[in-house]
Amino acid sequence: MGYILNKDQQDLVDLAKDFAQKKVAPFVAELDRAEVPGEKLYEIYKEAVDIGFCGLEIPEEYGGMGQDYYTVAAVYEELAKVDAGFATAVAASGLGLKPVLQHGNDAQKQLYADNLTGEKGSGFCAFCLTEPNAGSDAAAGTTVAVKQGDEYVINGTKCFITNGGVASVFTVFAITDKTKGVKGISAFIVEKDRPGVSIGKEEDKMGIRLSNTTEVIFQDVHIPADHLIGQEGKGFVYAMQTLDLARPMVASLAVGIAQRALDEAVKYAHERVTFGKPIIKHEAIAFKLADMDIKTEVARSAIINFLNTYYAEPKRNYTREAAIAKCYAGDISVEVALDAVQILGGFGYSREYPVEKLVRDAKIMQIYEGTNEVQRIVISGFLAAKK
Ligand code: CAA
Repeated sequence: MGYILNKDQQDLVDLAKDFAQKKVAPFVAELDRAEVPGEKLYEIYKEAVDIGFCGLEIPEEYGGMGQDYYTVAAVYEELAKVDAGFATAVAASGLGLKPVLQHGNDAQKQLYADNLTGEKGSGFCAFCLTEPNAGSDAAAGTTVAVKQGDEYVINGTKCFITNGGVASVFTVFAITDKTKGVKGISAFIVEKDRPGVSIGKEEDKMGIRLSNTTEVIFQDVHIPADHLIGQEGKGFVYAMQTLDLARPMVASLAVGIAQRALDEAVKYAHERVTFGKPIIKHEAIAFKLADMDIKTEVARSAIINFLNTYYAEPKRNYTREAAIAKCYAGDISVEVALDAVQILGGFGYSREYPVEKLVRDAKIMQIYEGTNEVQRIVISGFLAAKK
């Protein structure tokens, strides 16, 4: 059945679907193959910002759309059906925004709102947690923020940063007290135009090629002390809380990929005739399609289960439900996309058809925002804590 939305929410999801199909889809194949994405991609990004897709969850009082996460997930799914790279760029802005929405003050929320609605910025932000030696072990980062009077000075290099090259503001995690381990990490706001901020190499990725992924380097970057988000020493917990909410949104991208793979496979199975009948009438194909449908629907249900938990009991810990949604949706998106390739056979393996790209796009769903191994660490941790 999927998301139960009111008319306004459904209208927004329909708008996202229409935008993706009319404005993104015609350029996906070309942009997926381009060495460097080029201006066309940035034109599409700008149109998306102007509509408000990067500010979906920003409360209306700050100039955002004030949408709930059911609607956000449904919008992301529609965008990802057409291109998961483009959807990743939009969702990564939501990721960078969340620590500020959860723990920032009014001025900080307004600063992000202005950036993400394109009022005073590119429309994109980025979440800078990962470092070359701190991926799954997120607490192992070495970026530091040293307090000097009424400023902090930030030094360090972040990597694999989605939107690194297009963001106008960064949410940066840095050590403020190295004697305190995870309790010595804090979260900061750093605008791109501050002296000492530079963008390093752009990753040449296997998939999600319509998203921009770069290193971001901070060299003696001075920021005002009021750019600290929340309290000093709480940065790691803020990052984890953000990921608890963001991982189910990644799951919605994975579901978008899986749904697209299923739709393409069903369409082909009706058209393709072997041994005198459409291949959908062959049990081997029909059952594979049924399994693809089951997995996609169950993955979407896992997101809804997370959201029901999140909204019904705001104080309840929802880390487990978030990890289950992300892990399951990430895994099945790869399986379903591979099944679509199998059903399309040689055509599925050819770049002339869209399904080989879905496999390449799906693979990252098991890696970013916490590998699925990390999700299993989190889930099994809850089991181990039970007597
Ligand atoms: N909510 C609140 N607090 C939490 C928490 C949560 N979900 N998870 C951990 N904490 C708290 C713990 O309670 C603990 O605090 P106390 O000591 O006071 O109890 C503290 O944080 C440290 O917790 P752990 O000891 O469990 O931390 P750890 O170092 O063992 O790491 C981990 C745990 C789950 C493996 C974590 O490092 C992790 O999630 N790693 C993956 C990182 C990740 O997802 N990176 C993605 C980057 S973003 C990205 O990919 C985006 C992109 O560009 C698209």
